[in-house]
Amino acid sequence: MKFSILVAAELLLSLASAATNSTGPYTFDRLNKNDSVLLIVDHQEGLFSVARDFDATSYRQQILAHASLGRLFNLPVVITSSIESGPNGPILSGIRRMYPNTTIIRRQGEVDAWDNAQFRNAVRATGKSQVILAGITTDSCTTFLSLSLRQAGYAVWANAEASGSSSKFVRDLSNDRMSKAGVQVVSLFSIVTDLMRDWRATPGARQVIPWLATWYPAWGEVAEAHSSAVRNGTAVTGEDVL
Ligand SMILES: *[C@@H]1O[C@H](CO)[C@@H](O)[C@H](O)[C@H]1NC(C)=O
Ligand SMILES: *[C@@H]1O[C@H](CO)[C@@H](O)[C@H](O)[C@H]1NC(C)=O
Repeated sequence: MKFSILVAAELLLSLASAATNSTGPYTFDRLNKNDSVLLIVDHQEGLFSVARDFDATSYRQQILAHASLGRLFNLPVVITSSIESGPNGPILSGIRRMYPNTTIIRRQGEVDAWDNAQFRNAVRATGKSQVILAGITTDSCTTFLSLSLRQAGYAVWANAEASGSSSKFVRDLSNDRMSKAGVQVVSLFSIVTDLMRDWRATPGARQVIPWLATWYPAWGEVAEAHSSAVRNGTAVTGEDVL
């Protein structure tokens, strides 16, 4: 009896999974710079010290790199902060210098930025359907907003390198929670190359390579090494035979 109930349960499960698989071929949901808005969420000088899952130097670099995506791809940018007058502090000065004319939406209490009407209106006013975001902390500000945006029908790309939380454990479970809600949890380089699409585009190699040299040294240094070898017209002995 027990056995047959188990068999029946397994049969139901396999039918359910067949139904899931029969929804059609996989669709690669790609970022399109024409449809995207960039959100900068609670990257505040006080909250910065709560982010312990990355080294502070590289994390600060990632926050500024995230912000500068808006300038590189000419995206609409919405910046919001949470209770600046308290210990959370102001938005990082590097971001404020990048966007001196952008009004910061200063939330006076809402943890989830989507609970704030001014913020919702600012996002809706862009008319974009794809949202790229990052914030502090990953488990509250980034996650709550991402889930609210998914519920509101937006496609969401969470820049995992520019969100920060109290530990790697918290980061991992938060990113997992977002992924399960259909949020694309991705790296900075993934966002840049998806927005660019083709090195021959504009922005393309001419704009993106210098940007990478500043914000993504892992690739930028390779480009610099290559460029100096090209300029010199020589390679190290041994490289010439490769
Ligand atoms: C964005 O819009 C421009 C101008 O309409 C168009 O040429 C380009 O192909 C679009 N880019 C993408 C990725 O769809
Ligand atoms: C070119 O090569 C020489 C060595 O032959 C080196 O001293 C110099 O720094 C190189 N220049 C650049 C721009 O890499």
